[in-house]
Amino acid sequence: MAVLLAGGAGYIGSHTAIEMIEAGMEVVVVDNFYNSDPEAIRRVEEITGRKIALYEADVADKEAMRRVFAEQSIDTVVHFAGMKAVGESVEKPVMYYRNNLDSTLTLLEVMKEYDCNRFIFSSSATVYGEPDSLPLSEAAPKKSVNCPYGWTKWMIEQILTDAVAADDKLSVVLLRYFNPVGAHKSGRIGEDPKGIPNNLFPFIAQVAVGRRDHLNLFGNDYPTPDGTCIRDYIHVVDLAKGHVAAARYAAEHKGCEIINLGTGNGYSVLEMIHAFEEATGIPIPYEIAPRRAGDLPVSYACADKAEKLLGWKAELTLTDMCRDTWNWQSKNPNGYREEEV
Ligand code: UD1
Repeated sequence: MAVLLAGGAGYIGSHTAIEMIEAGMEVVVVDNFYNSDPEAIRRVEEITGRKIALYEADVADKEAMRRVFAEQSIDTVVHFAGMKAVGESVEKPVMYYRNNLDSTLTLLEVMKEYDCNRFIFSSSATVYGEPDSLPLSEAAPKKSVNCPYGWTKWMIEQILTDAVAADDKLSVVLLRYFNPVGAHKSGRIGEDPKGIPNNLFPFIAQVAVGRRDHLNLFGNDYPTPDGTCIRDYIHVVDLAKGHVAAARYAAEHKGCEIINLGTGNGYSVLEMIHAFEEATGIPIPYEIAPRRAGDLPVSYACADKAEKLLGWKAELTLTDMCRDTWNWQSKNPNGYREEEV
């Protein structure tokens, strides 16, 4: 039996493929390479020494997905196949709703046809909206979010919750990611955003490698000790191992479980810049810029439920996150492409 990684060539999917293979699981990848590169899967094969069944297809394409399920014995689906840029989602909301919701609905329909009942979903801490208290526990209410991307996560969680309520064979785990950063220790795979990075760590890495001349730090007048926003950064390899644990959990349980994947520690933007400089010895020039619309001052997880239910907790440190990000970026200054873009 195999785990289907929908969107498995992307940043989190490719790291999860490695951890699952190393845990003895078989994986099948479907990806349309909209925001990913087939080279990532080639490198996962190189790292693990295993050939991966790879289908180039849109996860929303029902006929293509039926072919995958007909050819492979799939017992668990992990759904990473979503568009994820906050700003782009504000400009192209219909594209975001169409893509992110359709892929989920198609997966649920085809899974039912093939009696596949385990679904792990890449959700986001963004569904918590503005927290009433910290750390954020799974018991906190979902609130209004700030962009169509966030609403797609919010709505897909609701769709999956309703699907479970109507089908007692289904087992769903909603994984709410905090801020994934870092890369595999080999430096062969990592985060490779197309165009100008939206997120902090890929931007810092591109400044370090000389692709950008400075970082714009969005706001230093927040109500935090140093005035910059605080987030719960989690190493992508820890996050990937959380999916291994979630897949095992889904095999043993029915129903729908919400689980945070974070470390429980918050670091400010300035602390992240300084940690990166310290771990790599490379200065990161930055300029204070206006606040970015929609940013929350502070967000970090209560990570207790993951430990209790999954027996999982994040183990890698901030230094690991910085060092591994730099190892990937310095060995692959243009990501998976050979030429600068
Ligand atoms: C963002 C999204 C979130 C999404 C996640 C993963 C917003 C409001 N939230 O999380 O919904 O799930 O990405 O895609 O966009 N920063 C800078 N300069 C930069 C980039 C970021 O100062 O060039 C700061 C931000 O203001 C923030 C922190 O770094 O305080 C982290 O930003 P980012 O990496 O984009 O993550 P989130 O905003 O937490």
